[in-house]
Amino acid sequence: MESKLILGDTLTELKKLPDNFFDVGVTSPPYNKQENKKGWLVKNVKYDKACDKKEEKQYQEEQIDVLNELFRIIKPGGSFFYNHKIRWEKGILFHPIQWISKTYWNLRQEIIWDRMIAANIRGWRFWQVDERIYWLYKPKNSKDFIGEELDSKHALLTSIWRFSPEQKIEHPAPFPLALPVRCIFSILNENKGWVIDPYCGSGTTCLAAQLLENPFIGIDISEEYLKIAQNRLQNYEQELDSFYTELSKHKVNKTFEERKKEGLWKNQAKTESKINNLFE
Ligand SMILES: C[S@@+](CC[C@H](N)C(=O)[O-])C[C@H]1O[C@@H](n2cnc3c(N)ncnc32)[C@H](O)[C@@H]1O
Repeated sequence: MESKLILGDTLTELKKLPDNFFDVGVTSPPYNKQENKKGWLVKNVKYDKACDKKEEKQYQEEQIDVLNELFRIIKPGGSFFYNHKIRWEKGILFHPIQWISKTYWNLRQEIIWDRMIAANIRGWRFWQVDERIYWLYKPKNSKDFIGEELDSKHALLTSIWRFSPEQKIEHPAPFPLALPVRCIFSILNENKGWVIDPYCGSGTTCLAAQLLENPFIGIDISEEYLKIAQNRLQNYEQELDSFYTELSKHKVNKTFEERKKEGLWKNQAKTESKINNLFE
């Protein structure tokens, strides 16, 4: 197989791919946001060829089918990063774990993506600026739920990822290049492997895979978005700055042991307690 962008429906196309083939995947599916959210800061998300307004039960069932198909095509010991968010519709909260827990995947970590800004500001709830990234793991066998440790240069990054949303790409909801770079590089490290994004949109995951010199498959239902993706893959030099900025964060400045010796955590706790006192 060669790297490619596939125009088509995610579930239909995933079913054509071989078992146990991919090493790692990253995606952000449509969120079923009902297409009615008008933000003060950004436009509402409406896709070119896909409907993002479904009955919630049907939406969750489709996501379970997609996640199970992804489980089939990822290698044992492989990982998939699923970006989603906590939604609140007409007073009911939908948490992605509601449907992730019904799939075959072993959930390894819930990462918080702090976007620092988001579209909707209404006083029903605190201003939600976070999304989530679920690190899903396919066990090597029925006894392995742990797998390999991350290399320290990746593991020293925390479980809160702070990236501002991407604004330069002509797609309604691209994620920043740093996000798939972090996922793929942390899992593959210096090794090479196949990467999949089943809702690839403007091709951010595919670009990350290409820059890290890995083969990839991207699927999307919109020809227009795949053209943007193709264009980004060809003009990759324009995004090298963001790529190298992310790579530069994967390094060990101080080991856990050194931080402990220097009392860095103690000082941090002291500063926090001083700040808290100001508010008491
Ligand atoms: C949140 S966006 C992904 C954006 C992508 N991460 C990027 O950086 O550009 C979701 C994508 O899913 C695509 N999509 C929605 N339903 C689909 C389906 N049934 N099959 C294939 N693609 C679909 C949309 O066209 C949209 O590009």
